[in-house]
Amino acid sequence: MAALSTLMLVWYSICGFAYAAASKSFTIVSHRETADAGLLLRKRQTGSLPSELGKSLYWFGNFSVGNAESVRLLIDTGSTDLLMNKGIYKPSKHEKPYKGHKNFTITYEGVNRAGFGFETLNGTTMTDTVTAAGLTVANQAMGNLLSYKYFDVPQLPYAMQGDGIIGFAGPGSSSFKPGANSWFWNLCDNKAISQCKLGLLFGTSGKGLTVVGKLAKKYLKGDLITVKDPNNGYVIKGDITVDNKIVLKNQTIIMDVGTDNIQGPLGATRKIFKLLGYEGHERSGPNLFDPSHPVKDLTAFFACDGPPTIGFSFPAEVELKAGQKARNFNVSPKVWDVYDHGKNNCTSILGGTNALDGEEGSGGAWLLGQPFYAGYYIDFDLTAKTIGFGDLIDPTMASST
Ligand SMILES: *[C@@H]1O[C@H](CO)[C@@H](O)[C@H](O)[C@H]1NC(C)=O
Ligand SMILES: *[C@@H]1O[C@H](CO)[C@@H](O)[C@H](O)[C@H]1NC(C)=O
Ligand SMILES: *[C@@H]1O[C@H](CO)[C@@H](O)[C@H](O)[C@H]1NC(C)=O
Ligand SMILES: *[C@@H]1O[C@H](CO)[C@@H](O)[C@H](O)[C@H]1NC(C)=O
Ligand SMILES: *[C@@H]1O[C@H](CO)[C@@H](O)[C@H](O)[C@H]1NC(C)=O
Repeated sequence: MAALSTLMLVWYSICGFAYAAASKSFTIVSHRETADAGLLLRKRQTGSLPSELGKSLYWFGNFSVGNAESVRLLIDTGSTDLLMNKGIYKPSKHEKPYKGHKNFTITYEGVNRAGFGFETLNGTTMTDTVTAAGLTVANQAMGNLLSYKYFDVPQLPYAMQGDGIIGFAGPGSSSFKPGANSWFWNLCDNKAISQCKLGLLFGTSGKGLTVVGKLAKKYLKGDLITVKDPNNGYVIKGDITVDNKIVLKNQTIIMDVGTDNIQGPLGATRKIFKLLGYEGHERSGPNLFDPSHPVKDLTAFFACDGPPTIGFSFPAEVELKAGQKARNFNVSPKVWDVYDHGKNNCTSILGGTNALDGEEGSGGAWLLGQPFYAGYYIDFDLTAKTIGFGDLIDPTMASST
């Protein structure tokens, strides 16, 4: 999900909604690896967290938070904060209030299965011990939810799918005051991991691994293509392809695995639907932040048995160095239907919105959500300030856990 910044200008209504409970259970096998055996005083570590795609189209992993064990958290690169649903959190003896500021408010975009809709959540902040895959942050800032409200989607009986959410972005997207580091950034700042790397190895089978602290070469086929992410904001440049040909250049792309779908700026999405021969359905809704700019979104239906070939090519041509070649990464045809309406009629997992027009420059940005990740190795490297893209040896990752 994308945590909305104050730059957010537009607000929009959604195209459709269906309740989908994330009911599948899964097993986490946490293990610990000592990467730097020569270091006696502090052994820096790496960890692999088995992860699974829920029916809600979010990826989850198993964490322990305070004294609450086996907490199923939504893995999100579009936000920073760790938030727990009401009743899940059990404070440990190390629990402390966070910086004396006890409340927070956050608004997320992309909260329903179609990838649209908004939700505002309130709660109290504290710090406590957070562990996954053998990696621990002792004083992790976190929030315990008190109330929530959905906008432009029906109110759901829970604030979050699963037990809560864990963001992997930097403090700039934190809703806490002052902004807090995410768990991953804390591991990095505390030099608790061998390398400041986050690997998302999410397979087309719905199983995968979240690897922290190293490049897990044994799953990677060939090399990574790396793209500059100058502010470690998980915001990069890329070109968009249809049928393996570039149709839009120099696009701003937010790498947000916690969004169900792929969202492009309205004009860009309209162009792609036109190229594919899709009839777009545009809707307009009120903008609670700025009533003079209604929120618009665009969706399309397609024949389920003929998914399109849409891809993201990296690095963007404008960033290619002499002699360097870009590579196109197509969205797997296995993950193209966000809804199957029957009669060979599916909702496209690509949608358009003007909700991000104010984000990252005025031209609008892409929100590259989870369908793109399926079958690829995506590596966020805070030290190199790059995001790497590669192929998984087994794109299904079916036997990864
Ligand atoms: C989560 O991990 C803990 C220990 O690390 C384990 O006991 C528990 O069964 C796991 N739960 C799930 C749902 O995988
Ligand atoms: C913080 O949340 C609590 C519980 O909802 C509420 O009673 C209190 O007024 C809130 N404090 C602030 C400063 O909003
Ligand atoms: C969150 O808190 C703010 C300020 O106290 C309040 O105006 C708002 O209605 C609350 N929202 C929810 C979803 O509880
Ligand atoms: C690429 O887009 C950025 C805005 O996001 C712009 O500043 C830059 O000039 C563009 N580069 C080229 C070569 O068009
Ligand atoms: C596909 O399903 C949607 C949602 O039910 C509907 O609005 C649309 O008209 C359908 N398209 C076709 C071609 O049947």
